Amino acid sequence: LGKEIIHKSTVSSTQLVAHEAARTNAAHGTVIIADEQSSGRGRMDRVWHSKKGKGIWMSVILRPEIPPYMAPQLTLMTATAIADVLDQYDGINPKIKWPNDILIENKKVAGILTEMQAEQDRIQYVVIGMGLNVNQADNELPDAIHYRATSLRKETANEWQIITLVQQILQAMEAQYDTFLKRGFSEIKTKWESYGFRIGEKISYHQGRENKQAIFSGIAADGALLVELANGNKEKIYSAEIDWFV
Ligand code: BTN
Repeated sequence: LGKEIIHKSTVSSTQLVAHEAARTNAAHGTVIIADEQSSGRGRMDRVWHSKKGKGIWMSVILRPEIPPYMAPQLTLMTATAIADVLDQYDGINPKIKWPNDILIENKKVAGILTEMQAEQDRIQYVVIGMGLNVNQADNELPDAIHYRATSLRKETANEWQIITLVQQILQAMEAQYDTFLKRGFSEIKTKWESYGFRIGEKISYHQGRENKQAIFSGIAADGALLVELANGNKEKIYSAEIDWFV
């Protein structure tokens, strides 16, 4: 990954640039990275604050030969790669909130947005966008209503080198991607679970408008959220939002 890197100073969103590049045949592994995004976006159409030089705003184009239903596993893989990189640093104890928010001390430091272009049962390409808050000071972090945000600087009181982190993340992602292609999702699932936020605990989550509570038992072999309901039934959930507070 990253043999081809498109670096821009300002873009609307690296996701848009990546889709455009992928449609015009950009190679597998092409990376789009920007210093600043004027309309960075997150999941659920939320805004992603992406100020100049304050974090990593990048999108990676993948062209995996896997069926579309497996694409979400790539998101979990990316979250695991980022967690692995952060975990190497003393004093940082990253967690992953299903499916793909990276947390430090219960606050969100990174998010991932995966978008797939598929036709019939073939993936044309996948764009994996990641946003990692790096050098924001306390007063530069967004006042998100849905969660509390943090940055590496805030958690460690150091300024971080963005370029080093980018290299480490791309290397970690590439290693996990190789594992994924060669040996499937199971090793990544185990690793993901080792970082899993609230595994074995009670969680509260939203599916559409419905709000439910259950015990979070782990993730399934296909990446789905596994919960155990109060009546003992086990359920596999593919799309839900886990609440930050129980
Ligand atoms: C989320 O947690 O909701 C996902 C956030 C993803 C943000 C990244 S920043 C780079 C890429 N470009 C975007 O506009 N979004 C993703």
